[in-house]
Amino acid sequence: MTQQVFDVFVIGGGPGGYITAIRAAQLGLSVACCESNPYADPKGEPRLGGTCLNVGCIPSKALLHTSHLFEEAGHSFASQGINVGTPKIDVAKMMERKNAIVTQLTVGIKGLFKKNKVTLINGHGSFAGQGAKGWRIKVGEEEFETRHVVVATGSRARHLPGIAVDNKLICDNIGALDLDTLPKKLVLIGAGVIGLEMGSVWRRLGSEVTLLEAMPDFLSVADVDIAREAAKVFAKQGLNIQTGVTITKAVAGKKGVEVAYKDQDGKEHQLSADRLIVSVGRVPNTEGLNHEAIGLRINDRGQIEVDAHCRTSLPGVWAVGDVVSGPMLAHKAMEEGVMVAECIAGQAGHCNFDTIPWVMYTNPEIAWVGRTEQKLKADGLAYKVGKIPFLVNGRALGMGETAGVGFVKMLACAETDRVLGVHIIGANASELIAEAVTAMEFGAASEDLARICHAHPTLAEVIHEAALACDQRPLHF
Ligand code: FAD
Ligand code: NAI
Repeated sequence: MTQQVFDVFVIGGGPGGYITAIRAAQLGLSVACCESNPYADPKGEPRLGGTCLNVGCIPSKALLHTSHLFEEAGHSFASQGINVGTPKIDVAKMMERKNAIVTQLTVGIKGLFKKNKVTLINGHGSFAGQGAKGWRIKVGEEEFETRHVVVATGSRARHLPGIAVDNKLICDNIGALDLDTLPKKLVLIGAGVIGLEMGSVWRRLGSEVTLLEAMPDFLSVADVDIAREAAKVFAKQGLNIQTGVTITKAVAGKKGVEVAYKDQDGKEHQLSADRLIVSVGRVPNTEGLNHEAIGLRINDRGQIEVDAHCRTSLPGVWAVGDVVSGPMLAHKAMEEGVMVAECIAGQAGHCNFDTIPWVMYTNPEIAWVGRTEQKLKADGLAYKVGKIPFLVNGRALGMGETAGVGFVKMLACAETDRVLGVHIIGANASELIAEAVTAMEFGAASEDLARICHAHPTLAEVIHEAALACDQRPLHF
């Protein structure tokens, strides 16, 4: 039975969905959001925040922080005259802290829904056809009508055929963020973002970590120089990264996991590990949406087809976040959510897909925005490069011995001087990249950045120097 008519009905309460809902409500629209809640809630209530808050960005960063402190305490405190002995990790306590952060944030989103008068509906949403006022959406036994639907159903881990994920011995991101003991030996299939972040967490805590990557080149999404530097640094840290492999077997047994793979030359290798993490990308969630019934178009990658404003081919049906094309990043999903809400409200919603930053929270952190050097070459664009190491930066050295690692590389158009890409490997790259994003969003030239006063001593001075270096006039290098 049709219950209520909304202006906007959002399916999925992750970053794409909850932000769409909040922004639409701020703009005076009546909004509902349904969430099917696969995440364990002690009270069985819907948990908002999606992959990001529950089993993604937030828990992984909490574990990265704890493991970073652990490594600092064990390896770099002594060089600064701080003697704390050999640190011990309490995995249960670390997980308890991580879970508390997740709960605090998911409860917080619920509070934001209340504040903005967004109706939260517990359950799996699907299309039930068209009604008198727009689209009919079914959640459980109930039906709702809405003028606009925003599909924000996100993604889930891709699994490999023949490798049974039980989230105990063989884990995807869900189990990987909840290991109950420190594995002596850990294998990860896929040396992408999750592989490197989760591999770093457990290596820092003492696991022997091997990453098995199918691609012949390491970190091919990043700028070539960044990938090369990262490979060097991670190898020095003890991450064993094998590229160009083909996995032939991965099975859980009584004692752990047996993994077999072929290397680039076709040679067979066997590995035994306590745990295996499969991190080979993600697939969009469109199951059970009943989208076929309304003719919603899905592309050959399983994503809902949308235009640059996240409109689907059907009037009043929009889609945002991991379920559509583009990088699977929380901030990209949120940007799209704001854009869609503003478009629905009759405003000129906007999302600049050219200035979406990427960050990997390894140590050193890696962050970039815009085009890589290899992309500029492929595009046939003449460019200039300003590259400055953190080693010449006083703040970096003062922060600790590992902070001097890495560099900022700025790429600017040879003709117009406009900044085309900024690539950072180094301490706090996740925060530093914001300046580059701002500059590129406003179409700045490297000369503009070179003329901005940067506080001293700060890591941001390396961005300033890289901008100066684009004009061959760095002051500290
Ligand atoms: P999701 O967050 O997946 O949310 C979709 C929601 O929809 C889910 O809650 C799901 O239960 C619900 N749902 C699905 N189908 C239905 C239905 N039919 N009815 C009702 N509800 C439904 N990104 C970053 O930017 N920075 C990071 O540091 C980062 N770290 C990550 C770490 C890990 C381990 C992982 C796995 C991902 C990480 N990401 C990170 C990616 C980020 O989590 C996603 O890009 C982001 O969550 C996508 O948001 P979304 O709203 O599109 O989808
Ligand atoms: P990914 O795409 O980053 O990396 C997957 C890796 O697995 C690739 O290098 C790929 O070549 C490799 N691979 C694929 N099939 C393989 C196979 N059969 N054998 C061996 N290797 C194989 O995906 P990942 O790490 O699973 O993360 C998923 C997404 O989540 C990311 O793309 C990103 O969008 C998001 N994420 C973002 C983070 C951040 O912003 N800091 C952190 C973690 C995840």
